Amino acid sequence: MKGLRLLFGPELKQQWHVPPSTGVDDMAKARKRAKSASEPDAIALLKADHRQVEQWFEQFESARSGSKKKGLAVNICQALTVHTKIEEEIFYPAFLEATEEKDIHHEAEIEHDGAKKLIAQIEASGPDDDYYDAKVKVLSEMIKHHVKEEEQPDGMFAKARNSDMDLDALGQQMTARKAQLLGEEPDGEEASNTTRGRAGSKESKDVGLMARLAKRVRGD
Ligand SMILES: [Fe+2]
Ligand SMILES: [Fe+2]
Repeated sequence: MKGLRLLFGPELKQQWHVPPSTGVDDMAKARKRAKSASEPDAIALLKADHRQVEQWFEQFESARSGSKKKGLAVNICQALTVHTKIEEEIFYPAFLEATEEKDIHHEAEIEHDGAKKLIAQIEASGPDDDYYDAKVKVLSEMIKHHVKEEEQPDGMFAKARNSDMDLDALGQQMTARKAQLLGEEPDGEEASNTTRGRAGSKESKDVGLMARLAKRVRGD
C-alpha cells in the first residue's frame, strides 16, 4: 500500500514536476460538470417525455368530466407534437447517420405519421364526439407500441447508446428546440444554429403554430 501511495500521492507531482492547479481550470471543470449534470442527455430527455405522456394517458382513462378529458388530451397532443418534432429534426437523423439502421429509423418515422393523423383528429374534436375516448385510447396504444420499439433492449435508444452519437450535445439541442416549440423563447432565437440547416421556412411556420398552441393551453 505504501508503494501505491508513493505512485499516486504528492510525491508523484514532485517527481514529475506536475504544475499546481490554477484554480481557474478547476472552477471551469466544476461548472462544466454541474452543467452536464443538470441537463439530461438526449435519451434521458426523450424517456422523460414518454413517462409524462404515459401518465396523462392514465389520467385520461380515469377522468370523468369532459373538461378534464379535454385538458389532458390537449396536453397529450401538444407534448407528442413537440416530441415527434424534436426526434425527427434532431435525434432520428443523428441516429441514422451514426448507426445506418435504416429499418428502425424508417419504421419509427412511419409510426410517427400514423400518430400525427390521429392527433389531428383528436385536436379537431372534443369530448362531445362519441368517438373521442376511442381516439385517445387508440393513440395511447399506438404510442405504447412506439415507445416500446424505441426503449426495448435492442431498440433505437439502446443502439444509439452503443454508437458514437454525442448524446449530451443532442440533449442540449433538443432541450433548446423543445423550449422554442413550446413558445418559451422569443421568436428572434427561433432559428438556432442546430436546426437552421434542416429546419427551413416550413419549420418557422410550425414554430409559430406551436407557440400559439402553447399560449392557448396556458390560457394566455
Ligand atoms: Fe419517442
Ligand atoms: Fe418516436
